[in-house]
Amino acid sequence: FDQNSLLFYVNGKRVEDQNVDPRTTLATYLRENLKLTGTKIGCNEGGCGACTIMVSDLDPATDEIRHYSVNACLTPVCSVFGKAVITVEGIGSVAKKRLHPIQERLSVAHGSQCGYCTPGFVMAMYALLRNKPKPNMEDVDEAIQGNLCRCTGYRPILEAFYTFTENAENGTLKNSMNGNSCPMGEKCCKMNGNSKCNDTDRKEATKLSSFENVREYDETQELIFPAELKLN
Ligand code: FES
Ligand code: FES
Repeated sequence: FDQNSLLFYVNGKRVEDQNVDPRTTLATYLRENLKLTGTKIGCNEGGCGACTIMVSDLDPATDEIRHYSVNACLTPVCSVFGKAVITVEGIGSVAKKRLHPIQERLSVAHGSQCGYCTPGFVMAMYALLRNKPKPNMEDVDEAIQGNLCRCTGYRPILEAFYTFTENAENGTLKNSMNGNSCPMGEKCCKMNGNSKCNDTDRKEATKLSSFENVREYDETQELIFPAELKLN
């Protein structure tokens, strides 16, 4: 690599820049220099997850490719030198290509209202699936714990994302609660003696959306790590 210029990849495209202000964050660089405004800036201090993107690099200890979600607002753009970044524009869209299955299921579940948090949730889930194509529900909870939503609430977002888990069966949720399926798991109000949660409520809570016609997730179709970055 030319050590005097910033080189990294964004959504499979090479970016080289010799005039980078080292104070620039990755979120600002993506939005202002590359015009990739799908990555949102909410708090700009690492608290909301709206700016979540995925970074891939080679683990220096093992030389294995690793993928992780990152708050782009906390990341100096120079720190992604030699790495590959994937933003929400790189995984799917209505205009240019199909929605990614994560986006499609979020839409089917009505998991987006103002949409400001949505790219961050999508990318946090995307990073999880790149590492573990069949996660469990706890993996999903952990993956999105840094993402806040102020309007939809988490119920439909979780319903959409749990369909990717090994606990999901035929598009509905299934967990270990005596054969019942409540996405709140152990925290289900029924488990805690709330008499207002009767069987009718529970049926509504488990079947708000149907995922029967959504596409399967196929991890072999994802962007590969750029060959150039493996060589240096
Ligand atoms: Fe809120 Fe980055 S903008 S975490
Ligand atoms: Fe508005 Fe999540 S959809 S903040």
